[in-house]
Parts: sequence; C-alpha cells; structure tokens
Amino acid sequence: MKETIERLKKERNAVILAHNYQRAEVQELADFTGDSLELARRATQVESDVIVFCGVYFMAETAAILNPGKIVLIPDPDAGCPMADMIDAAQLRALKAKHPGAKAVCYVNSTAEVKAECDICVTSGNAERVLATFPPDEKVIFVPDQHLGSHVAAKLGRRYELWPGYCPTHAMLTARKIEQARLEHPGAVVMVHPECARDVREAADERLSTGGMCAFARTSPAREFIVGTEIGLLHRLRKENPGKLFHPVTERLVCPNMKKTTKESLLEALREMKTRVVVPEETAVRAKRAIDAMLAL
Ligand code: 13P
Ligand code: SF4
Repeated sequence: MKETIERLKKERNAVILAHNYQRAEVQELADFTGDSLELARRATQVESDVIVFCGVYFMAETAAILNPGKIVLIPDPDAGCPMADMIDAAQLRALKAKHPGAKAVCYVNSTAEVKAECDICVTSGNAERVLATFPPDEKVIFVPDQHLGSHVAAKLGRRYELWPGYCPTHAMLTARKIEQARLEHPGAVVMVHPECARDVREAADERLSTGGMCAFARTSPAREFIVGTEIGLLHRLRKENPGKLFHPVTERLVCPNMKKTTKESLLEALREMKTRVVVPEETAVRAKRAIDAMLAL
C-alpha cells in the first residue's frame, strides 16, 4: 500500500498532511504531521497541486481557504468536529448583535461560515499570544470552545463573552482521572489540552496544544509523562522520544472522527481524487481574512 500511495502521490503531484490525532498508520504515510497551527502554516507553503488532508473537516476547509487554486481532498468527508458544529453563522451574528463593538474571535475548530463572521482566528497553540495583542479593555466574543476561551481569559486576566461549546472527547477527562493517573505513575508530568474543563486544567502541570506537548516533551528533562489528550498523539510522542515514557490518562480518550481516516481511505482518496473540499468563494475570501490575521501575528 505504501508503494501504491507513493506512486499515486507522484502521479497526482500530491502532498499528504495529517493531524497529530490520526491513526499511526496514517501518520506514517503522511509527508507532514502536526497540530492545527502547524498544519495551517504548512498549508500556506504547499507547492503540489493536490493536498490530501487527513484530519477533520474544518482543518481541510482551512487548507482549501488558504489554497484557492489547489485541490484539497479529505479521505472521509464525514469526519467532522462536533465542537465546530456547536455554533453556526446565524447564531454568531445574533451574538455579535447583542455585543456591538466586540471583536469576534473564533477557535480554528469552527466552520468556514463562522470564520467568515470573525475578526481573527486562533488555535490552541497561539490563542494566548494572539489575544495578548488586544488592548486589555477590548470587548471579545470567543467561539465556540468555552474551555479554551476561559483558559486564555484566565491567563491574561481578562473577561470574554464565551459560547458554551466544548469538545465531547476532552469532556471525558475529569480531575479524578488525573489524580488516579498520578497515583499510578508517581512523578510523571501531567500535560492536558486547553480544551479540557477548568478543574482538569488545574489538576495538570502543563496546558498545551498537541504541537506544544511534542515540543515540551522533547525539551523537558522529565522522563515520564501523563498525556491528557486524544490518544493518537501518543504515537508521535513515543516515536520522537524513544527514551521517555508516555501514559494516556485513559485509553478511552478517542476522537471517533479523527479515526475515520484509514490507510485504505487515504489510498482511495488519491486513486479516485475524492472527496474534494470546496468552500464557496465569497465565504472563503472572508474566512481567509480571519486566518491571515492570525498567521500575520
Ligand atoms: P491542536 O491544534 O492542539 O492539535 O488541537 C486540535 C484539536 O482538535 C484538539 O482537539
Ligand atoms: Fe473536535 Fe474534539 Fe475531535 Fe478535536 S478531539 S477534532 S475538538 S471532537
């Protein structure tokens, strides 16, 4: 399969991008694996005609928005992000009408229509840095993730209008599960994703994006880590740090949508050139402004 995929990649002049939560078999076939920010940045540097995006729909949409002239394929178009679907453009417009003059900030885990309504986009890897550039008294609407929003607001000592969205996968984590994992692995450093609820974030030692966890594990003198995010990240952490130990808080922390892409569906995507991700031009142009504003910072 690897040989067939390599051959098809050459024939199609395609590049394979994969998120850190993808199955190990998919990560191994990808040209680049990263977090949402790294993937958005990489999508701006692609020279190939075709991008096969192994992740969830909003990520492939972001790659399509950043590359209007290229063909972006997603192996399974049903791989959505339930959090991204927790707010739509009409709901955001109503929220903006309730808070005139507020800056609308969206987590990258949002639809293109929602991005199109926003002033700037953020990822878990840069939300604090981006929002730190706002004047402290700036009124901010943050959608859709209440947890990332409250995490950044607390770090910067600010108050944001939060939409009550959340990630159903990270919602499975509890502070009690973190304490149990600490008892099982005494001395291990606990890293959790900022999509976790506040008590879980407070029970952890580090709150990091998936790319942030990879960088932290690489440079930390610690030898043992408890990982509070989707278990797909363990593949990369273990591969990049052979001398270190990584324990999931629970093996059940799986994002079903991230697991929809398989090596078979990846091969099929390349062979059949499907499914193409198309964002209507008017939406794409407006959404690109919010993504570009983030990338410029
Ligand atoms: P990262 O940008 O940290 O990889 O997060 C994406 C995501 O969907 C987390 O659930
Ligand atoms: Fe969406 Fe959560 Fe899956 Fe990330 S882990 S893609 S936020 S459902």
